[in-house]
Amino acid sequence: MEVFTYLFVCTLLFSLLRTSFTLDTITPSQFIRDGETLVSSGRTFQLGFFSPGSSKSRYVGIWYVTAADTVVWVANRDSPISDHYGVLKVAAEGVLVILNSSKTIVWSSNTSRTAENPVARLLDNGNLVVKDGNVDDSENFLWQSFDYPCDTLLPEMKLGRNFGTGLDRFVSSWKSKEDPSQGQYSIRIDPRGFPQMVAMDGARILSRAGPWNGLEFTGYPNLIQNPVFQYEFVLNENEVYYEYKLKNSTLFSRLVLNPSGTGGRFTWIDRTHSWEVFSTTSEADQCEKYAFCGAYATCNPSNSLICACLEGFIPKSQKDWNGCFRRTPLECNGGDGFLESSGMKLPDTSSSWFNKTMSLEECKGLCLENCSCTAYSSLDIRGNGSGCLLWFGILTDMKVYSQGGQNLYIRIASSEIGAIKRNRHSNKIKQAGIIVGSAILVIAIITLGMTAYMRKKKLSFKAPNISGTTKRNRKKGYDNEGWNEDMEIPIFHFTDIANATKNFSSDNKLGEGGFGPVYMGTLLEGQVIAVKRLSKNSGQGMNEFRNEVKLIAKLQHRNLVKLLGCCVQENEKMLIYEYMPNKSLDSFIFDQTKSKLLDWHKRINIISGTARGLLYLHEDSRLRVIHRDLKASNILLDKDMNPKISDFGLARSFVGDQLKSKTSRIAGTFGYMSPEYAVHGQYSVKSDVFSFGVLVLEIVSGKKNREFLRPHQHLNLLGHAWKLWIEDRPMELIAESIGDSYTQSEMLRCIHVGLLCVQQRPENRPNMSSVVLMLSSDGLLPKPRHPGFYTDSNEADFSACNEAAYSANETSITLFEAR
Ligand SMILES: *[C@@H]1O[C@H](CO)[C@@H](O)[C@H](O)[C@H]1NC(C)=O
Ligand SMILES: *[C@@H]1O[C@H](CO)[C@@H](O)[C@H](O)[C@H]1NC(C)=O
Ligand SMILES: *[C@@H]1O[C@H](CO)[C@@H](O)[C@H](O)[C@H]1NC(C)=O
Ligand SMILES: *[C@@H]1O[C@H](CO)[C@@H](O)[C@H](O)[C@H]1NC(C)=O
Ligand SMILES: *[C@@H]1O[C@H](CO)[C@@H](O)[C@H](O)[C@H]1NC(C)=O
Ligand SMILES: *[C@@H]1O[C@H](CO)[C@@H](O)[C@H](O)[C@H]1NC(C)=O
Repeated sequence: MEVFTYLFVCTLLFSLLRTSFTLDTITPSQFIRDGETLVSSGRTFQLGFFSPGSSKSRYVGIWYVTAADTVVWVANRDSPISDHYGVLKVAAEGVLVILNSSKTIVWSSNTSRTAENPVARLLDNGNLVVKDGNVDDSENFLWQSFDYPCDTLLPEMKLGRNFGTGLDRFVSSWKSKEDPSQGQYSIRIDPRGFPQMVAMDGARILSRAGPWNGLEFTGYPNLIQNPVFQYEFVLNENEVYYEYKLKNSTLFSRLVLNPSGTGGRFTWIDRTHSWEVFSTTSEADQCEKYAFCGAYATCNPSNSLICACLEGFIPKSQKDWNGCFRRTPLECNGGDGFLESSGMKLPDTSSSWFNKTMSLEECKGLCLENCSCTAYSSLDIRGNGSGCLLWFGILTDMKVYSQGGQNLYIRIASSEIGAIKRNRHSNKIKQAGIIVGSAILVIAIITLGMTAYMRKKKLSFKAPNISGTTKRNRKKGYDNEGWNEDMEIPIFHFTDIANATKNFSSDNKLGEGGFGPVYMGTLLEGQVIAVKRLSKNSGQGMNEFRNEVKLIAKLQHRNLVKLLGCCVQENEKMLIYEYMPNKSLDSFIFDQTKSKLLDWHKRINIISGTARGLLYLHEDSRLRVIHRDLKASNILLDKDMNPKISDFGLARSFVGDQLKSKTSRIAGTFGYMSPEYAVHGQYSVKSDVFSFGVLVLEIVSGKKNREFLRPHQHLNLLGHAWKLWIEDRPMELIAESIGDSYTQSEMLRCIHVGLLCVQQRPENRPNMSSVVLMLSSDGLLPKPRHPGFYTDSNEADFSACNEAAYSANETSITLFEAR
């Protein structure tokens, strides 16, 4: 029995020995046949013949002992062997060779030196080395596989160049999963100027890590703070290289460039050999693409306008983004200065110059001396910063970070610098103004709160002026429902209003709003007013009325209609507004004759004014208001055709984080309501953005979204606009009445912004501050996705079936969901 066991174990050992050397070294007298392997001393890596994927070709490669399908290096990647009779050996002079069955050398290593007693050894870090067996030298190899990376960068491997020997170590992708020969993608150090790491497709740069600043690549400011790796970038007279090491040696790690050119990210593995991608770089965005924004422009992925010109530069083209050029040419001889930009990924250094010992001051001086020098920065930001990096010619491939990034000093004509600094200064003052403004508002509100309290206490409070029947600031002696106590607006007498409107005569009637008729009136002192008389059976109860009055009283903006006061008497509720002689926008844009009065200049003014008014409601006013019923008939026009948003009856103020809310009570107007609001009752600022987008498209097209139907086409206006947009003929949307009073780029931008606003998903829609910015500048806009509610009305679409039920009139409707 004992003997039997012994025999069995022996056999097993024997068979193990046959298939794999438990050796990590071969000498010129030994060789490795297909089927045999070398294993590194720590049993981490294994070397032998393999076939990738379903390929039949045989290659010599190195892989992980624990993950045989993960090949990190291939010797004969461009010259496979077709059968299983290949052999790897060390020739006498220290050259590694692979022979095929006809004893022809298909691959060989290359050495400039020879050795007496060469040996090849597979080290535990995955490096296959040829060294002199007589010399116990762990570094001075005759040859090493780490000098010829394939698609994988392992820890301790150098990526870069040796200036002496000209050796260029770079990572290059496989052609495909089945073919390890050199593919089109590579990651390498570009030695021009200040050396930098680049990813390339053939000879074309795909992306750039940015110059190393002593701590990190300026293109990856988050690289240092990671728990797994430490990095090093070495640059001296002899060589330049990048290298990474693992902080914890119990982990395996590799950086792989996939055949598709993706990857180039760090992956790591623990001993259970399940690879996990540990991404040290942020999600790839458009800004990763080399020079995406072109010359003298910065890329910022978190902005809605991804590309922007550097200060002092203007876009080359208004239509398609094509980089920027100087507003004022350089003067060169003493007429230039520098402008500091912070938080930057430094520009492409391929035409740069550097000196490691110069100070920043010397650097500036040197840049000023040479007319073609366009920028400078510190070379090493450690400590107080040191060294000098100068750029010559075009600055490109810059990025702006909200955190991290580096200072760059850009050369600008002195005359330009003055203007920019003044501009920066006034922006600062504006910001300070906003802070002071808010402080004043807070104080004002505290004061108001106190006065209200005092009024409650002093029941005998007297209105300031009781004589003169039309004087405002009068207070009636009633206190019904206590609501007027906190109203800080003038209260009008019912009789005054009745007189002003000729007892609400039909001649004075301006129209019928959502909750009742609106009258024009003239007060005794001559002021013209608009009176919104809430019908007694209107949906607007005391709650809405209180809301509207309280809200509007506190909102002051030149694009919001101004509330002059209110009037409450028994069950009469009235709001008194400033009068808008030109009535509402819908009376112009949808009217065949009057629409001719609105040329493009006036229309764009209405669009941007409305955007600013809405921005004020959403973000700038202290209360933060969602309008919820923005539409053409709620945009009033003053005598100069300036837009004023009206009708806050449905507005709700929201506080702080409560940006999204759900209501069981849906109010608004079909055709302007966003899908998520109409269907789910979810409203947010983005619902208003949707309505704004509809409005923009209506202003451009002169068509009503709700009533837009073309023969044989069941698309609403949004669907129609979208169809034209994707078919690349957006200009067909433009209303005839606009004539040729527009500039094409401005028009396109408006349609583009309109489509961005009506996108199906609220999170894709820009907020109003972005909208205002998009409308006023000329940066690159994101691509719109399909709009909400654009479906064919043949389908049982919510908008279609409900619109039929409510299409009888244009007025606002308020739905109450069944509870
Ligand atoms: C060995 O390689 C040589 C050179 O590439 C080639 O001509 C020969 O056909 C190969 N022999 C076999 C058996 O593949
Ligand atoms: C080997 O080295 C010589 C000179 O050092 C060079 O000319 C040759 O191209 C090298 N061959 C390979 C395959 O790297
Ligand atoms: C390294 O990783 C192992 C396993 O993940 C862990 O147990 C060990 O504490 C780590 N060592 C250090 C120095 O972080
Ligand atoms: C770098 O600057 C230092 C000090 O200004 C100077 O001594 C040195 O020669 C410069 N090096 C080169 C390569 O220009
Ligand atoms: C300016 O710098 C460029 C690039 O280094 C160089 O070719 C040129 O000679 C310099 N000009 C002067 C006047 O120093
Ligand atoms: C940085 O500059 C300050 C003031 O000039 C100096 O006191 C400090 O020692 C400097 N630090 C380093 C690391 O050079």
